[in-house]
Amino acid sequence: MISIIVPTYNERENLEELFERIARALEGKEFEIIVVDDNSPDRTWEKAEELAKKYPVHVIRRINERGLSSAVIRGFKEARGEIIVVMDADLQHPPEVIPKLVEAVEKGADIAIASRYVKGGKVENWYWWRKLISKGAIMIGRVALPKIRGVKDPVSGFFALKREVVEGVELNPVGFKILLEVLIKGKYKKVVEVPFTFGLRNFGESKLSNKQILNYLRHLYRLMKWEGEIDRLVKFSIVGLTGVAVNEGALLGFVEFLGWDKRLAVIPATELSILNNFLWNDLWTFRDLKRKPLYLRLFNFHLAALTGALVQWAIYLALLYVGVHYLIANLIGIGFSFIVRFFVNRNLTWA
Ligand code: GDD
Ligand code: MN
Repeated sequence: MISIIVPTYNERENLEELFERIARALEGKEFEIIVVDDNSPDRTWEKAEELAKKYPVHVIRRINERGLSSAVIRGFKEARGEIIVVMDADLQHPPEVIPKLVEAVEKGADIAIASRYVKGGKVENWYWWRKLISKGAIMIGRVALPKIRGVKDPVSGFFALKREVVEGVELNPVGFKILLEVLIKGKYKKVVEVPFTFGLRNFGESKLSNKQILNYLRHLYRLMKWEGEIDRLVKFSIVGLTGVAVNEGALLGFVEFLGWDKRLAVIPATELSILNNFLWNDLWTFRDLKRKPLYLRLFNFHLAALTGALVQWAIYLALLYVGVHYLIANLIGIGFSFIVRFFVNRNLTWA
């Protein structure tokens, strides 16, 4: 059996066509539609109950709770099917794609994502800046959470999964990107993406506002913490501080005791600090991620240092140009360089 979870809030006008198209797409298959409605002012729940006479619909009307993710999580708990599908009610997720998702799961995928960003997928009628924000947000997510690096559309609201993936898994309902939550915390091996066209809304309006961008970043932060990535970031900073000490100490030694030229002594001093940082990060920060051979890790670590230095310099120059004090400009540059180095290393050196 297939359980289709549909979270709704003021979607009354969309239900009939949605159910009809689902029923047609799944003809001959056993399925149930679980509508999780948060007591919509337009009485979506009432309409859903009315349509339950004609379609296999199970309506959950929540009075005191509100939220897309928590509605989906509630749906997971109610679902009786072996395969669970999650989709929107507004027909931006065409029901005709459901059989493809189900087929992918039947063929061995644990999670099948209806994806806007694999070959053949697309978005209808979005301005270029809307696309840019969407793609930028996904890129940040994939860099911050190496586990989902291979997924092109980890924030899609349209996907299918085997029930075991979420069974017994504690999902946090705060973020509205429930798929991200599932991809980080779920129990699965194989993910596939099925292309689809994210269409236009039929009736009503979108409930996701601009403040969700901040919400998304907070969600990423929480997931990074859950993944232990924030711990790594802290360790990486501590190692970075020891590097500063090594750099300064070595420079002092070279100049004062060995009498080397100040202008050149800074080069071996910097290299020593890079080696120091590599050593401690390899032994401590990323000790569980030594999958690449040593020479390659060392090489990539230097590449990250170089990238960081270039970013630092570029930001320094840019800020000088707009009139920022040079010491502040440098500090901001150092901050960015630090973040860049962390993520380059996390995704390259210790991927
Ligand atoms: N129960 C419940 N409670 N349902 C909600 C709530 C809520 O608080 N907020 C929204 N929904 C339902 C809507 O009724 C709709 O069926 C679905 O969740 C998606 O909401 P939309 O308002 O249509 O969102 P969107 O089209 O802007 O965003 C969609 O695309 C994103 C990717 O760009 C959604 O599918 C997102 O999940 C997806 O990440
Ligand atoms: Mn929508």
